[in-house]
Amino acid sequence: MAMASDKQANEENELLLSLPKDRGLGRGGYLHLFQDFWCPPFCFQGVINFQNHFLAKDNDVFVASFPKSGTTWLKALTFVIVNHQRFPSFEHHPLLSSNPHELVSFPEFILSHNLDDQIISLSNMSEPRLLATHLPFPSLPESITKSNCKIIYICRNPFDTFVSAWEFFTKISSVSSPALTFEEAFEKYCNGIMGFGPWWSHMLGYWNESITRPNKVLFLKYEDLKEDAVFHVKRMVEFLDTPITQGEDSTAVIENIINLCRFEKMKDLEVNKSGVIDNIVEKKNFFRKGKIGDWINYFSPSMIEKLSKIIEEKLSGSGLSF
Ligand code: A3P
Repeated sequence: MAMASDKQANEENELLLSLPKDRGLGRGGYLHLFQDFWCPPFCFQGVINFQNHFLAKDNDVFVASFPKSGTTWLKALTFVIVNHQRFPSFEHHPLLSSNPHELVSFPEFILSHNLDDQIISLSNMSEPRLLATHLPFPSLPESITKSNCKIIYICRNPFDTFVSAWEFFTKISSVSSPALTFEEAFEKYCNGIMGFGPWWSHMLGYWNESITRPNKVLFLKYEDLKEDAVFHVKRMVEFLDTPITQGEDSTAVIENIINLCRFEKMKDLEVNKSGVIDNIVEKKNFFRKGKIGDWINYFSPSMIEKLSKIIEEKLSGSGLSF
């Protein structure tokens, strides 16, 4: 049985209390430095359970991302592709009546509670299973890295990611943890302190893996997807090796997929205008502006200089740039 004993729960609690902690953008006040990433406390137990109990299947598909990089969009696109045989109709698609976060779960979140039941429902999911994660590559359960399951990663320009995170976490921050100012949050972000950060090691972990194992990890950028969705969605389809046409014109199907997941379309759906996810996040907060370059409205010249230098320093020599 996977059920955690009281003893285990106490040990995990003690471990959490022993970890370095700091305030940064993310849910639940303090973040804890665990396995070299800043773990939000609400999913600490879930991360450990995910690592210890999750069994990947070779045909699993994971979407991975640093928060606020386009996860919702990638979940939607991948859901439509992976399930095209099951849900071929774009007029009556589950995405029209469910938010992408209701259709694609994060195991590190759901395994925080009712472990045994969640493990059973994960193992009973229809195949191929589509799941999501914010965990950095080195912290993924071994069965994911060792099996043949596939991972699609999305990253985003660190300037826009920060602004998106600032707007999002300010809206959902709890009364018990007074909000950071924009300047304070920026300093933390520059030091890598945001849930699941540092952002640079998060993207580099998946970037390097996508180079050494291109059949395992497909690396996408939010900006590229915005600029040439047809090209990049075709890459996703090829990478997943999923049949999406049955005598239909594949370009037309790809255009329909893109259209179904378009920012304006999703933002306007009733299902995404009201209601909450995980009892805390209003669905509408996942759809803000959906634009490239909104950061220009937020950053002072010295902030631009500082973050540009960090990007240069941290990514230099990796081949990854923005
Ligand atoms: P902005 O805050 O810049 O508008 P995540 O899904 O990882 O939380 O990322 C959220 C960001 O993705 C938000 O960016 C949000 O507006 C944008 N987004 C959500 N759905 C999108 C879609 N279908 N197409 C493009 N961007 C989308």
